[in-house]
Amino acid sequence: MAFNALIIIATCCRAFVGILLVSLMVMNSVHADPEALQDFCVADTKSSIFMNGRPCLNPMEASPEHFMTSALRKAGNLSANPLGFSVIVTTPANMPGLNTLGLSMGRIDMAPGSAIPPHIHPRGSETIFVVRGALNVGFVDTSNRLFSHKLVTGDVFVFPKGAVHYLQNIGKITAFIVSAFNSQNPGTAIVSLATFASTPAIPYEVLSKAFAISVQEVSQIRKSLGGT
Ligand SMILES: *[C@@H]1O[C@H](CO)[C@@H](O)[C@H](O)[C@H]1NC(C)=O
Repeated sequence: MAFNALIIIATCCRAFVGILLVSLMVMNSVHADPEALQDFCVADTKSSIFMNGRPCLNPMEASPEHFMTSALRKAGNLSANPLGFSVIVTTPANMPGLNTLGLSMGRIDMAPGSAIPPHIHPRGSETIFVVRGALNVGFVDTSNRLFSHKLVTGDVFVFPKGAVHYLQNIGKITAFIVSAFNSQNPGTAIVSLATFASTPAIPYEVLSKAFAISVQEVSQIRKSLGGT
């Protein structure tokens, strides 16, 4: 009897472990924002309720306009940015129909010679499509290995969620890139600003150790990045 019980437990637990593994695999394959529980959830942009995403408008109040935006028609002002690029993204604020759908889109315009400095998107992977131009792009994995490639018009690249990545215009013309995220709100943290220009500042001694530079050099970098 005891032997049989052991076999039953072993069988049960093997099945349990199997189910657990399958669940973990399924969970691992889901890397987008949470699934919507209704056809759509047009963002109520006037609500002051804070939740994961935005509260939904009554579906009867939804209109076609909620599902479109002209925000990406024109490039931003490239000369207004000392780094010479512009990024405009769709959000539930400028496109309420995006809310809870787990995706968003951006337009990137980059002057010749410009670069988008190393940054991360904590909540989404990003694919880019080069509509026009020539780029050098890359991301770094958690082993500090760089995966970089040159791209020309028509090429597509993907930056995995959370990976530090950059884009550089290596062509002679202003580059035009379309990007897509599997998050309605991927977020952006620029590594240089997060480390050297935070408010308040990270202790200079910490940055001095982290970057193997003097405290004076930390102060210099902070100033040149606009930290106060
Ligand atoms: C773009 O930015 C530059 C620098 O700030 C400014 O001089 C120029 O008037 C801006 N152009 C437009 C169209 O807003």
